[in-house]
Amino acid sequence: MSIVGRPEWLTTSVGYEVYIRSFGDGNGNGVGDLPGVLQHLEYLAWLGVDIVWLTPFFPSPMADYGYDVGDYVGVAPVFGTLADLDLIVERAHELGLKIVIDIVPNHSSETHPWFEASRSSIDNPFRDHYIWRDPGPDGGPPNNWLSHFGGPAWTLDRTTGQYYLHLFLPEQPDLNWRNPKVRDEFLEILRVWLDRGVDGFRIDVAHALVKDEQLRDNPMLMSTEGITDARYLFACMDHAHDLTQPETLEIYRSWRMIADEYDAALIGETYVLDAADLAAMVPGDGLHVGFWFVPMHMEWTADAIRPTLSRATEEVSDRVGWVQSSHDESRPVTRYGGGDLGRRRSLGLSVLMMGLPGVPFIYQGEELGLDDGFVPADRLTDPVATRNEGSVGRDGCRTPMPWGPGANLGFSTAPDTWLPVGHGEESSVAAQLADPESHLHKIRALLSIRRKLIDPTERSVEWLATPDELIAFRRGNHVYVLNAGAEPVEWEVGNMMRCLYSSTGPLSDVAVSSVTLAADQALILGPASAGVQ
Ligand code: NOJ
Repeated sequence: MSIVGRPEWLTTSVGYEVYIRSFGDGNGNGVGDLPGVLQHLEYLAWLGVDIVWLTPFFPSPMADYGYDVGDYVGVAPVFGTLADLDLIVERAHELGLKIVIDIVPNHSSETHPWFEASRSSIDNPFRDHYIWRDPGPDGGPPNNWLSHFGGPAWTLDRTTGQYYLHLFLPEQPDLNWRNPKVRDEFLEILRVWLDRGVDGFRIDVAHALVKDEQLRDNPMLMSTEGITDARYLFACMDHAHDLTQPETLEIYRSWRMIADEYDAALIGETYVLDAADLAAMVPGDGLHVGFWFVPMHMEWTADAIRPTLSRATEEVSDRVGWVQSSHDESRPVTRYGGGDLGRRRSLGLSVLMMGLPGVPFIYQGEELGLDDGFVPADRLTDPVATRNEGSVGRDGCRTPMPWGPGANLGFSTAPDTWLPVGHGEESSVAAQLADPESHLHKIRALLSIRRKLIDPTERSVEWLATPDELIAFRRGNHVYVLNAGAEPVEWEVGNMMRCLYSSTGPLSDVAVSSVTLAADQALILGPASAGVQ
């Protein structure tokens, strides 16, 4: 399907996720906030990203750190004020950056006035804003659906004797997207923010809004015996009836009409782990981009990496949102072996992702090559960990951003921070700025070369034959290649080419017809006539 009305700016963009609580603390209370974001916008412009995605800043009881929204059109006092947001939008635009905010339409907080009204009685006009059902025949939940965060997806509300649905925490009741009134509410919410000047939305749990009309049981994929991790338990089910219902697409078509009026972007958090299913969620006339999460779960082997990248490219084309990290998953450096090894691999993967059609996103700290921050057991705060024995939570990837020397590595002047600062000063922005060979400088150089090389209209990618350990593709005049093996590998490129970027080691400007890649090294090769960047 052809792409209708895609914002021109999105086609060439690289995004950057700001997890506000941990980015910069402007008021010195130990929690990152909007003034803290404002202070660091120049850094993001210097780094060379184009889109700044701000995680939720709305009033919230923070049961899930803002993904439980109590008011969709306000700002939580802990994060600042609407005026602070306006300053961010204004400054970002001066710097040539776009601001994308996080909208959470699948569920609200239980403190949202809609839910307070909805739960008050069966005939309240807001009852159908949420999904209520009588208990099942045994008095238990109405079906077998599970919460992503542990336990059943249903909670009994004693006021009316019915269960309400929540695919996440009980404090996050799911909205009823089969109710046209809910659809209308969100069309207005989108306009409120677009009129304030934001450039688009990252849409939380974008694939899950509409649920099966009959709320049928999900089939099981495997036995849950012996599995304790809440998120693995969720994965034991075939989510045939709670996720990816085709009616969800209608919603994004209606959002798209509004987005197009403002030249705004719709970027879905589409947690759909099959490329064809992802393509179905992002057909081209609704969401502009859908995140592809499989790279967060793949092993470090060429046999795992190659199809993970090629399938998404073939099925979803330039509507792929490329991510290797986020505030929800262990950082790639840790996943790929930790320390320098993990850093080399993460950078190598970035080289490939930056060359493919689509919109690559960097999660704060990825540009520093951070591994997971250390959080002692008594400081864990993520409900996934604190409410489920045996579950790995998300605190390690959420520790504060290390900016420089001094208290809390420049994140905050408070005596204590909401999560401990999990890294050493050597990983900070200031330390890496001073070292021309640092991960930070390598990522910046990669973004810079991407800007020069990428022809966004070139959507075709040719996957090249290579020795087993390599992954290589040609896009336009350029070849991107990664050695995912543990030994150096020589590769006959086939024609004379010049190396334009190397993730490790020095860059030679001699045109060559064969290259030797060290373990985990990635290269960008251009025509022999091209100059070294
Ligand atoms: C995805 C968000 O990224 C995550 O942090 C949140 O807990 C869930 N959606 C529920 O909103």
